[in-house]
Amino acid sequence: MNHDTPDKLPKSQKWSGEEIGKHSTDSDCWVIIHGRAYDVTEFKAEHPGGSKIIMKFAGKDATETYDPIHPPDTLDKYLARDKHMGEVNMETVEVEHEADPDEEDRKERIKRMPILEQCYNLMDFEAVARRVMKKTAWAYYSSGADDEITMRENHSAYHKIWFRPRILHDVETIDLSTTMLDSKVDIPFYVTATALGKLGNPEGEVILTRGARKHNVVQMIPTLASCSFDEICDAAEGSGQPQWLQLYVNKDRAITERIVKHAEARGVKGLFITVDAPQLGRREKDMRSKFDDVGSNVQDTGGDNVDRSQGAARAISSFIDPSLSWKDVPWFQSITKMPIILKGVQRVEDVLQAVEMGVQGVVLSNHGGRQLDFARSGIEVLAEVMPVLREKGLQDRIELYVDGGVRRATDIIKALCLGAKGVGIGRPFLYAMSAYGLPGVDRAMQLLKDEMTMNMRLIGASSVDQLEPSMVNTRGLSMHSTAVPSDTLGLNVYDPLVNPPEKARL
Ligand SMILES: Cc1cc2nc3c(=O)[nH]c(=O)nc-3n(C[C@H](O)[C@H](O)[C@H](O)COP(=O)(O)O)c2cc1C
Repeated sequence: MNHDTPDKLPKSQKWSGEEIGKHSTDSDCWVIIHGRAYDVTEFKAEHPGGSKIIMKFAGKDATETYDPIHPPDTLDKYLARDKHMGEVNMETVEVEHEADPDEEDRKERIKRMPILEQCYNLMDFEAVARRVMKKTAWAYYSSGADDEITMRENHSAYHKIWFRPRILHDVETIDLSTTMLDSKVDIPFYVTATALGKLGNPEGEVILTRGARKHNVVQMIPTLASCSFDEICDAAEGSGQPQWLQLYVNKDRAITERIVKHAEARGVKGLFITVDAPQLGRREKDMRSKFDDVGSNVQDTGGDNVDRSQGAARAISSFIDPSLSWKDVPWFQSITKMPIILKGVQRVEDVLQAVEMGVQGVVLSNHGGRQLDFARSGIEVLAEVMPVLREKGLQDRIELYVDGGVRRATDIIKALCLGAKGVGIGRPFLYAMSAYGLPGVDRAMQLLKDEMTMNMRLIGASSVDQLEPSMVNTRGLSMHSTAVPSDTLGLNVYDPLVNPPEKARL
């Protein structure tokens, strides 16, 4: 077949499975996605997930593997029109389902799932999600870098901060609302950017949008979302719901510029440039899960250099520019009027430099413990940063956000006492979405609101602007060996690290 002038069928006809099956070689490769045939012979060399995964589906239906990780507009955006070969008669196609030995057990576990009302806090969602999520999805969401010391520290750091509550302040009415980057929100947390939402729920990130919309909180849209950027914006349209964009900077700056300008045109209220991921960390659970559904958000060539044994994270990130530096900041400032926030700042020197360069904010974050192991928790960095900013009179020059390990409203309160404008929450909403869909996300957010209202009363603050450093004791925070109260999440829910399995006996 000549691929420059594909012999498309007349509209009324459809390809048969047998005909598609003939295009299954390296030099002539078609795949079926959602009942349509695509000629990917040339494209496969540019596929960010590598060409091997495409060859695995050469001449076959790839929909099941393709769907969770590719936004629906991917083929329209990145595959030339003349490679869209037309409809396939799916009755003639044999769809192969990959045997998953755990699937039957998982279905049983789903039947025994607790009802939503039995989830009383964010950790409960995590415990349920671990039992009911697909293995590869759980591995991708739950994994941290290396020995996962930082991932656990993120959560336990909050246990090292204790309250110094005020008494006899009128706390009859509690106002949790605040502003973040000039947007009014009902409570000072936001849904932070987490990639590949469709791994956990077939509808993907739009579920988080709807939850955030109901509770009037900000959603940060990830570069590597499974839904398209426009789908996520559309889900918020008309509500005035603020959205931000998380940006992985592409080696090809023209692509980055297009993404940024499009986001601004769609009304996005903040550009969060991820600065802690020049290369994605080693997340061994993810790698061990032998993820081979790779290839989200086609942006640039990763080609065959991609080693799929490295797990989902590494396979989808080959386009990220490791040469990104402070020198690029003025360029971003020149292409957008959106506030610019650096996501993943980890020490006071860099916050000061960010102030100097005139960016509007930083997120003190270690990427949920998924990047540099032994990076300190965001909350510890906040406790280091704020006094220095105050001493230099710079505290109002920049908005500070913190994420990582936030699971209780008391964590939010602690961060605000230490000077954060708000906190980002990642995994808990992913788990609520994966286990219970939108009702789960809704309940998770409502639980946080209820917890926060109660705890604001108990600490003696009727509005978030009353939260201040004298209300917390942080002396234990920098002592990484300090004993912390027994941690149910660490002990009962987090997966222990595992060793490589023995080879099966022949
Ligand atoms: C599954 C998953 C995917 C993530 N994807 C991204 C991403 O694409 N870009 C990014 O800047 N941060 C990403 N993060 C990091 C989060 O934005 C955030 O820093 C972190 O999840 C906060 O920690 P928490 O999950 O304990 O709340 C991801 C985190 C998780 C758990």
